[in-house]
Amino acid sequence: GSHMSCDIPVFMNARTKNDFTWFKLNDTLDYECHDGYESNTGSTTGSIVCGYNGWSDLPICYER
Ligand SMILES: *[C@@H]1O[C@H](CO)[C@@H](O)[C@H](O)[C@H]1NC(C)=O
Repeated sequence: GSHMSCDIPVFMNARTKNDFTWFKLNDTLDYECHDGYESNTGSTTGSIVCGYNGWSDLPICYER
């Protein structure tokens, strides 16, 4: 489907400092992993973009 906005996603082992509860198309959400966790790119922070089909990625962090 296509939507023009994104709801706040489910965070796994991560948190965000954004206060927004919904995001417009092309809005960016920055997240950071909890201590001891990292994203699939090996970074402790990341950002995702709200696109036509929802978030570009999910804010998920894995145990190091
Ligand atoms: C969102 O980004 C796409 C790709 O850069 C662009 O084509 C589009 O116009 C942008 N839409 C809005 C609402 O900013």
